[in-house]
Amino acid sequence: MQTLITDSPEEAAAILNSGGIVAFPTETVYGLGAAITNTEAIRQVFQAKGRPTDNPLIVHIGRVEQLGEVARQINPAAEKLIERFFPGPLTLVLKKSPLVPEAVTAGLETVGVRCPANVVAREFLSRCSTPVAAPSANLSGLPSATSWETVMKDLEGRIDCILRGEPSSIGLESTIVDCSGQKPILLRAGAITLEQLQAVVGEVSAEKSDSEGTPPKSPGLKYPHYAPLASIILCRPREAATPRPRSAFIGMQRQAGEWEAQKICKNLEEYGRELFSFFRHCDSEGIRFIYCELPSSEGLGRAIRDRLLRAAGEE
Ligand code: TXA
Ligand code: MG
Repeated sequence: MQTLITDSPEEAAAILNSGGIVAFPTETVYGLGAAITNTEAIRQVFQAKGRPTDNPLIVHIGRVEQLGEVARQINPAAEKLIERFFPGPLTLVLKKSPLVPEAVTAGLETVGVRCPANVVAREFLSRCSTPVAAPSANLSGLPSATSWETVMKDLEGRIDCILRGEPSSIGLESTIVDCSGQKPILLRAGAITLEQLQAVVGEVSAEKSDSEGTPPKSPGLKYPHYAPLASIILCRPREAATPRPRSAFIGMQRQAGEWEAQKICKNLEEYGRELFSFFRHCDSEGIRFIYCELPSSEGLGRAIRDRLLRAAGEE
């Protein structure tokens, strides 16, 4: 399959509308979209990524008003979160409307819905004739793609089109909150922090969705994720690490010693934005160990910590 690369949201949307699968930029990470009503295109999305079919896709909308097309029984907590954080880096899990096919939700009665804020994403989505189901645009198991070049590396020849945009400004996947039950539950930490959610709706539980014995609330969380080929070694803040040969470091405090690459980030925002692209860079350089400073779980630290623990195989 020939993958067309374009800067035109119109052209990309036309390809999606005629049954193609299209990668597009968002402020979190790049997504790989298909029309929710086209089950063959949805099947191709799973196939292109090598994604297990029991892992549901997030449905993306260009305008908040389209929510009614995909979700029903939106409760007051969800309404407040929509009012405050849509469009943006937040996915809400809601009761699904019958219009959303089972292939998208992997048979669940709920649907994850997101309205991205990125301008190119919105121009694209607003020209798509249906809401767009999209996982992150990377091969399953690898870190999410935060640039179109990374999408190309993983998926060229496997998808119809890449809509080229800027590198993702956040660099970590959206916060996922399950609002389908009585109390909101944080399923995946992201740039909208637990503290911000709590400030809007009061109590939000952050229980582990994949604790033993209970089925995971977010099916994708049971799969290994975000892992570079190199091994991850976690360090405490301000811990002096001694590098093995072929090692790199990412964190907020510079390390002494012989490192093949060091990425020093001035704050958590930069750390989140650079993390996956640094993983990808290290893999392309043949680096064997990536030492990573593990931030505390306050604010954006929770999301970075979560990705690091998963990459290290500790979650
Ligand atoms: O930032 C993002 O969320 C990006 C961009 C493209 O929007 N998308 C993304 O998709 O990260 P993906 O497929 O890589 O991760 C989606 C996660 C998976 O863990 C999946 O299991 C979960 O969302 N999910 C989707 N629908 C769900 C549902 N109805 N209930 C619970 N979890 C759901
Ligand atoms: Mg993903």
